[in-house]
Amino acid sequence: MTDRRILVTAALPYANGQIHIGHMVEYIQTDIWVRFQKLRGNRTVFVCADDTHGTAIMIRARDEGRTEEEVIAEMAQAHVRDFEAFDIEFDNYGSTNSPENRELCGAIWKSIREASLVIEKDIEQLFDPEAGLFLADRFVRGTCPNPECNAPNQPGDNCSRCGKTYSPAELIDPKSTLSGATPEVRTARHLFIELKQLHSFLDEWSQSGMHLQSEVANNLRGQFLGDPNSAEGAKELRDWDISRPAPYFGFEIPDSPGNYWYVWFDAPIGYMASTKQWCDRTGEKFDDWWKSDNTEIHHFIGKDITYFHTLFWPGMLKTAGFSLPEKVHIHGFLKVDGEKMSKSQGTFVMASTYLKHLEPDCLRYFYASKLGPGLGDIDLNLEEFVNRVNSHLVGNIVNLASRSAKFVSGGTLCEKYPDDGGLFAAAAAKADQIAELYEQCDFSAAMLEVLQLADEANRFINDRAPWTLRKDPEKAEEVRQICSIVLNLFRQLTVFLKPVLPTLAEQSSALLNSPITNWNDVKTPLVGTPVSDFKHMMQRITNEQVEAMIDDSRVDDAAEDDSDDSDSPWKDGPEALAAEPLSEECTIDDFVKVDLRVARVIAAKDVPEANKLLNLTLSLGGGETRNVFAGIKAAYKPEDLLGRLVICVANLKPRQMKFGLSEGMICAAGPGKADVFLLGVDDGAVPGQRIH
Ligand code: MSP
Ligand code: ZN
Repeated sequence: MTDRRILVTAALPYANGQIHIGHMVEYIQTDIWVRFQKLRGNRTVFVCADDTHGTAIMIRARDEGRTEEEVIAEMAQAHVRDFEAFDIEFDNYGSTNSPENRELCGAIWKSIREASLVIEKDIEQLFDPEAGLFLADRFVRGTCPNPECNAPNQPGDNCSRCGKTYSPAELIDPKSTLSGATPEVRTARHLFIELKQLHSFLDEWSQSGMHLQSEVANNLRGQFLGDPNSAEGAKELRDWDISRPAPYFGFEIPDSPGNYWYVWFDAPIGYMASTKQWCDRTGEKFDDWWKSDNTEIHHFIGKDITYFHTLFWPGMLKTAGFSLPEKVHIHGFLKVDGEKMSKSQGTFVMASTYLKHLEPDCLRYFYASKLGPGLGDIDLNLEEFVNRVNSHLVGNIVNLASRSAKFVSGGTLCEKYPDDGGLFAAAAAKADQIAELYEQCDFSAAMLEVLQLADEANRFINDRAPWTLRKDPEKAEEVRQICSIVLNLFRQLTVFLKPVLPTLAEQSSALLNSPITNWNDVKTPLVGTPVSDFKHMMQRITNEQVEAMIDDSRVDDAAEDDSDDSDSPWKDGPEALAAEPLSEECTIDDFVKVDLRVARVIAAKDVPEANKLLNLTLSLGGGETRNVFAGIKAAYKPEDLLGRLVICVANLKPRQMKFGLSEGMICAAGPGKADVFLLGVDDGAVPGQRIH
């Protein structure tokens, strides 16, 4: 164990819906980070809970004729089942509707009152006389009040057509979505937290450069805090409305009968309540985790809930004397094939539906290969998903074991680690660098490093070809040596990948009869240990499986605002296909001069000054790289190319271009523009390998 003590949270999923693959971006990201920390020997605790309070649950319970408690108990079970199936390993999974949470809310509230941060104001809100409750903005629909727009059926806070924001009372001809009744404007007394009193603290905390990604800090300054040193000066923070009048499913505010804490007041306190449950169960002291300079608190959230975690929450913690977050890690949103998840298109995939068709590790790996430290959205391109899983995981990594284990199964690895030309040592020397990438949540860069190590291991086994040597009985010892090397290199990769692929790490442990318990396991090769029979690890996945999952997710009558067809695939019109005249003949002798090689894209960036070009760095293995400019900007985003195996013309005469030297060419086919398809290979192919 090291000295670091780390408390990690992922956002608490709402209890009014099932977990979908968008949520999974976050839970997988956080779980990888936690498993990484644990593998490093850092004392790490991962807590989460269901977020149960608010109007949505209350209405759902009414609709279903059940109590709120029944609804949330059922949902909690479904959530826990999905998380377990995806190998998300919480140390405690609680609920915001718990006695621990009520008590902590009361204590924090008391501090906020004592700090004189609470004020009361009367506000006007729409009230549904039939349903008998105040309506949150999203439960009201009406005609946009902007005279130039007047779009019908718009939500209570902003217009989806013209983008204007307004208060629900301004809507023309408003209707309650709950009962269809015309809501009345009623006045109610609400409690507010006067955030402006915390301005200088929030300024200091958020702008310190320590706790937030820089884009988040800048956004907070621009949107909310302002800059005291600029001409415009600091901005005034608005009061935060934290109470809701009855009826409301939540905790009643002890010193304000008839009023309830707004769900976003008690939700983050749920992080603490879940920690409290874990402490009570394990005999730990709560204050060691929430009131100690020796514990780092890390929150993982999506960008939509930034302000709750970067303004309100630190403000609450500070006022009540608890530890502040060391870091709030914010990620972007999931897109599927470049678009928002959509029920009618079948891309709004529930976690449980995914699991009916595919293994969890495939998604864990894919997300890892896409997630960087920034807030950019993550695109689940379905074709790329299949390719990456098959070529990276099965073709490049699992194949190392399947192609070597069978020659030594039932026997043991060599008693002394054989000479591998420095491969194992070189990979071990990368351990700190890869660890730092995990630490910074730059998982995609970490995956790329691991892939390059796998390339070297594949090159080694391809060069030595134990499958040929074994036909010669005199080469038995050589075969054993080769396999001892390859299996050790494989194991090293599974240690590096353990945070992402816990199942693969277990399979590797079982095959080689040595548990993987620490990051430093990459540093020492196994010697003399028994090798079990090779049992299948991960299998290739097919487009058909993915299509079946999408079909299974398609909801025909989806009344959704989540699909948007403004971007028609026919925008450019189908282009007429004309037969091109044939070019000059090329002899077979001409053709064999072309040195076609497998290469891996290890860096890819846009050339902003060029209309069509991307600048790629290709690895040809053995440390050899090429700088290439390729005219495929319309078809590929640079980040989607990272890690791909492509076919390149390795002996093309280098050409000086306006933007730099191009030292090769990558092969692609297709009619052009966005329809350009890179030629790639997988299944054990390694950079540098010749194609013909
Ligand atoms: N209940 C609140 C969080 C309270 S934390 C004190 C909530 N719940 S949620 O179920 O809507 O979302 C849970 C987490 O999943 C959030 O961090 C959210 O950003 C994330 N995601 C939900 N949909 C997502 C995508 N489509 N893509 C990526 N992350 C997504 O917010
Ligand atoms: Zn409008």
